[in-house]
Amino acid sequence: MSTPAVSRQFARAALRTTTRNAFATSARQAFRQGGGRRFYSAEQPPKSSSSSTLLYVAGAAVVGAGGFYLYSQGGASSASAKVFTPTKEDYQHVYNEIASRLDEKEDYDDGSYGPVLVRLAWHASGTYDKETGTGGSNGATMRFAPEGDHGANAGLKHARDFLEPVKAKFPWITYSDLWILGGVTAIQEMQGPTIPYRPGRQDREASFCTPDGRLPDGSKAADHLRHIFYRMGFNDQEIVALSGAHALGRCHTDRSGFEGPWTFSPTVLTNDYYSLLLSEKWSWRKWNGPKQLQDGSKSLMMLPADYALVQDKAFRQWVEKYAKDNELFFNDFSKVIVKLFELGVPFKEGTERWTFKPLNA
Ligand code: HEM
Repeated sequence: MSTPAVSRQFARAALRTTTRNAFATSARQAFRQGGGRRFYSAEQPPKSSSSSTLLYVAGAAVVGAGGFYLYSQGGASSASAKVFTPTKEDYQHVYNEIASRLDEKEDYDDGSYGPVLVRLAWHASGTYDKETGTGGSNGATMRFAPEGDHGANAGLKHARDFLEPVKAKFPWITYSDLWILGGVTAIQEMQGPTIPYRPGRQDREASFCTPDGRLPDGSKAADHLRHIFYRMGFNDQEIVALSGAHALGRCHTDRSGFEGPWTFSPTVLTNDYYSLLLSEKWSWRKWNGPKQLQDGSKSLMMLPADYALVQDKAFRQWVEKYAKDNELFFNDFSKVIVKLFELGVPFKEGTERWTFKPLNA
């Protein structure tokens, strides 16, 4: 099914308008749709922890878990050096910068980089293996070819490239803290719950890339989901709560091969993913692409892995709870996404979590 570009454009604009306003069902239905550069870090981890060595490697270096940032003034010849310890305020500035740029490209997807930023933060974190303690958001190893090229990460270059100018403006933040802050900002700015955040991730070199196959495969069902998410340390309720992120964004034929959005408001976080899973009549789409489901109006989609949540009894009871109660979903989603984003991160003891003010609060 291919929709002419013009009507697709209209549908997106309409969706955006709809989602900015209160998302009444009738309005949503009225707008039903017919349808960088990869960054290879120049910053090698320092061999020595001596601050003078650090200073002159690249003119600047991040040291310590979320700790301080050393930079030289006047280039390598200058002897003057400053130590800068970023505060909550500094991170709020980064938050504001990301938030103010989310909607800057009208023609990108549904008008917001929010969904793809959430997916970047999740894929950076979701490689965690609780047995070996490997993977997770500490490291931002997706910058490097082996991991960046894994099939599951297709398309995330858009999110990484989006964040490059932010990194350039705030060079003291690590990529790994920035990617997670990108996810936190996107969720809050797309009217989701407050997501507490703490910095402390350090960037790591390519040898820390995780093997392919740690992220879930959309064409698979409940057993596979349990296999993948139990490895990270999640239970059934948490798997269902995390999946509610599919209220956001869409699938792309040139990324995963699948196509379409899950909900009518892909730039606003709601519990619609669950209510639509239960209320729509889902059938297999007949098309020249991977097996996916479509709703009666043929405007929405579900992956086989999404549909597994209503086919499996233990998962389904949580789908029903979240479909009925958006507040419960928001509370559980916030808790579980904080857990996801912090998997395998060696925070210094006593590091407190902060909450950031949404841009238009
Ligand atoms: C449960 C297992 C999961 C599977 C099989 C899965 C699979 C997928 C697939 C195939 C796409 C489409 C990618 C594309 O073509 O652009 C996608 C997009 C997305 N996923 Fe998941 N996902 C899962 C869990 C999650 C979780 C836990 C989160 C976040 C908490 C998440 C957030 C997203 C978002 C926001 C998008 C939209 C990205 C965009 O619009 O560019 N997913 N997912």
